[in-house]
Amino acid sequence: MVRTIKIFDTTLRDGEQSPGASLTPEAKLLVARQLEKLGVDIIEAGFPISSPGDFNSVQAVARLVKKCEVAALARALPKDIEAALRALESARKPRLHLFLATSEIHRRYKLGKAKSEIVRLAVNAVKQARQTLDNIEFSPEDASRTEPEFLLEVAQAVAAAGARTLNIPDTVGYAVPEEFGALIAFLRQRLGREIAISVHCHNDLGLSVANSLAAIAAGADQVEATVNGIGERAGNASLEEIAVTLHIRRDYWKCRTNIKLSELYRASRLVSIQTGLVVQRNKAVVGANAFKHEAGIHQDGILKDRRTYEIIEPSLIGVPESELVLGKHSGRHALNARLVKLGYRFREDELVRIFERFKDLADKKKEVTDADLMALMEETIAPLSETYTLEYLSTVAGTNTIPMATVRLKKGGETSQAISNGDGPVDAACKAIDQITGLKARLSNYRINAVTGGRDALGEVTLLINVEGREIPGRGVSTDIVEASVKAYLNAVNRYFQHQAGSAGEETETPSL
Ligand code: KIV
Ligand code: ZN
Repeated sequence: MVRTIKIFDTTLRDGEQSPGASLTPEAKLLVARQLEKLGVDIIEAGFPISSPGDFNSVQAVARLVKKCEVAALARALPKDIEAALRALESARKPRLHLFLATSEIHRRYKLGKAKSEIVRLAVNAVKQARQTLDNIEFSPEDASRTEPEFLLEVAQAVAAAGARTLNIPDTVGYAVPEEFGALIAFLRQRLGREIAISVHCHNDLGLSVANSLAAIAAGADQVEATVNGIGERAGNASLEEIAVTLHIRRDYWKCRTNIKLSELYRASRLVSIQTGLVVQRNKAVVGANAFKHEAGIHQDGILKDRRTYEIIEPSLIGVPESELVLGKHSGRHALNARLVKLGYRFREDELVRIFERFKDLADKKKEVTDADLMALMEETIAPLSETYTLEYLSTVAGTNTIPMATVRLKKGGETSQAISNGDGPVDAACKAIDQITGLKARLSNYRINAVTGGRDALGEVTLLINVEGREIPGRGVSTDIVEASVKAYLNAVNRYFQHQAGSAGEETETPSL
């Protein structure tokens, strides 16, 4: 019998807690839309009590998402529960995710509460939430370091109070697969089918996916994961690794998920671009090297039959082909047909705009590949409500020349121009942008990547700017790497302003329970 494992995605909640990651409200909606396309069962949209910005984002995701459940996180406190339930009001399929720490170390040092008090708080929280909502998930935080008998006591109490799902977090990534699997088997055996069992594994020892799989083998019904494995500290279990493992080794696991695997690559790219967290090249499933073969003996095998050294076909997860697909004589219909094949659908007016950008690219670059198109689309479909747009850029650089840049930016109906010199053309242009925006930003990370091979390749720049200690990602593409760099810098600057606007007057509460 093949079991269906539910995928609870927490990219927008635990994922957003990754050091250095922060998503704008618009980016959260883009990610939520992609997660829905990906087929996750539940989207955890945020932690409403933690800030007005988070509250609004959960509310916006709840309004947008139609097919999946939308979850909001709350501590076992009345005000948290009220805020989360309010944020979920417009969700078609709401889920409230309650958590309270149960391990000895958390009880003693963080909460200062006895076991009986923990059980009482947990039960009261579930009962309060159940007055409004049926679909309650309860997480005993730090469950893997909790005494199993006490964990069972809490689980039985919350199940009796009406919780539908018991989530077992390995909060600090301490568990090992055999032990974690045994814990899940113990709970399953003692709880029977009265409550669904979920797991939520962190990656501090690099075991989050292995622990999640061990839990599935032991009878878990749901796993919590994030795209690219982002999350607190070393991150959470990677959604794509779990989904692809269950698929490729279905002979062994005899489990399936509702994940549409061909949307994985696009989801990975979107999350990476929007959070600024670069995917390591050798990351399983979605890393840039995952389908590259370097050793001669491997290349020889691949040419004879790909299956000799490749267990995942790139097309399975939606990796675009790099062959020539379009050129400057291709028309709008050809472009549209290609975009549809890549999974993009646009209205006629949007297509007109995209076609202009494509023509522009095809003029500079003879061969436009799927990978180029995807890079272009990622820029086009991830628009910030741009504060500043680049109207004009001219740079001077070379040996025995002082690098100079002239930049013209448009904001609303107003155009401003600045000229600056710098250490190089990119530095000069960034300084000119700073003169116009008044922002003092420091470039803290800069990467350039050629989307395809060839001297005319599209350059993709991803960078981080640091403004008053906060890191903000930016991305730009162009066949001209100075232009790509300036676009990326401006993209980060716009994100900064958008964040400022979105969180104006925001008081962030530091959750203490
Ligand atoms: O890691 C953790 O314990 C959590 C809980 C809130 C589920 O993220
Ligand atoms: Zn977590």
